[in-house]
Amino acid sequence: MKDRLVSPQISEEEQFIETSLRPRHLEEYIGQEKIKGNLSILLEAARRRNEPVDHVLLYGPPGLGKTTLCNIIAAEMGVSLKTTSGPAIEHAGDLASILTALQPGEVLFIDEIHRLARAVEERLYSAMEDFAIDVMIGKGPGARSLRLNLPPFTVVGATTRVGSLTAPLRDRFGAIYRMEYYDHESLNKIVRRSAAILKVPAEEEGIKEIGSRARGTPRIVNRLLKRVRDYAQVRADGVITMDVAKEALDALEVDELGLDQTDRHMLETIIKKFNGGPVGLDTLAASTSEDSETIEDVYEPYLLQLGFIARTPRGRVAMKAAYEHLKLIPTDGEGGPNLWTTP
Ligand SMILES: Nc1ncnc2c1ncn2[C@@H]1O[C@H](COP(=O)(O)OP(=O)(O)O)[C@@H](O)[C@H]1O
Ligand SMILES: [Mg+2]
Repeated sequence: MKDRLVSPQISEEEQFIETSLRPRHLEEYIGQEKIKGNLSILLEAARRRNEPVDHVLLYGPPGLGKTTLCNIIAAEMGVSLKTTSGPAIEHAGDLASILTALQPGEVLFIDEIHRLARAVEERLYSAMEDFAIDVMIGKGPGARSLRLNLPPFTVVGATTRVGSLTAPLRDRFGAIYRMEYYDHESLNKIVRRSAAILKVPAEEEGIKEIGSRARGTPRIVNRLLKRVRDYAQVRADGVITMDVAKEALDALEVDELGLDQTDRHMLETIIKKFNGGPVGLDTLAASTSEDSETIEDVYEPYLLQLGFIARTPRGRVAMKAAYEHLKLIPTDGEGGPNLWTTP
């Protein structure tokens, strides 16, 4: 499901265009007011002390602006940024070479930090805490460990699953920020800003239509904008009006809440195949041919946020709002094979 239109995950050809739409400074960064407030104090305090910023952990669903925020932290501090990711650092030695190459004050961005190998993670503890790392010199009985001092630096970690982080790693972060889904007002602002950068003429009602179908996610709102722009250019006179946006998004099968066929299929599976649930994650994954990690990290967070499903100890349950959205009527009664009917 790589080319799903409302996937919050980035596709390869998007990397370039995302760079052009990415806000560079905190004041350009729309929404996430709580994080911005706390972060600006953290940055200002570090600047006054002339020290690197405390280590920062950003967590939340994909596409909400974690990578963007990390770039902003480096830019606001006037330092450069090195980027890596949990799975890219395979051995403790890889970590040592990354860390020893850091310049004083530099920001090291570790994306998907929950996927760090255990041995690497343990080395990172002392690096983050004491700005030092132990490296092994030589092999066999003559091997000895040597402690190298590192210049002070800042780790910014990003993760979609903060629950998978070990407690000692989490504790090394001085600031932990949870990214929230964006409200409509913020999404509209993002569409307005991106439309201006891309030089797409868009009417206010058209902007709102796009904002309301973007699942609270900036990456998706930008993608929908580009697809609606294409539609406007081919089928209309290039201007994004409300009608053009509606037609385009309907044609792309993104509904008023931003759900696509995959979401609807998953909800219908819970309701029709499993009588509304509870159904275990792995069973749900098997019956929808998705993998359980993708369901958990990518599809489910937004459905939970909408109140369409709930997590219970026995599995996922479809809620009344989901029935209503799919125009199915839940029938009363405990269990039984006929928990839903169509009107
Ligand atoms: N607060 C924001 N304001 C404006 N645009 C944003 C904001 N957050 C994210 N974006 C846009 O969404 C895209 C995806 O953000 P990104 O930081 O890559 O998300 P994540 O790393 O959380 O998956 C960026 O390219 C940027 O254009
Ligand atoms: Mg990212």
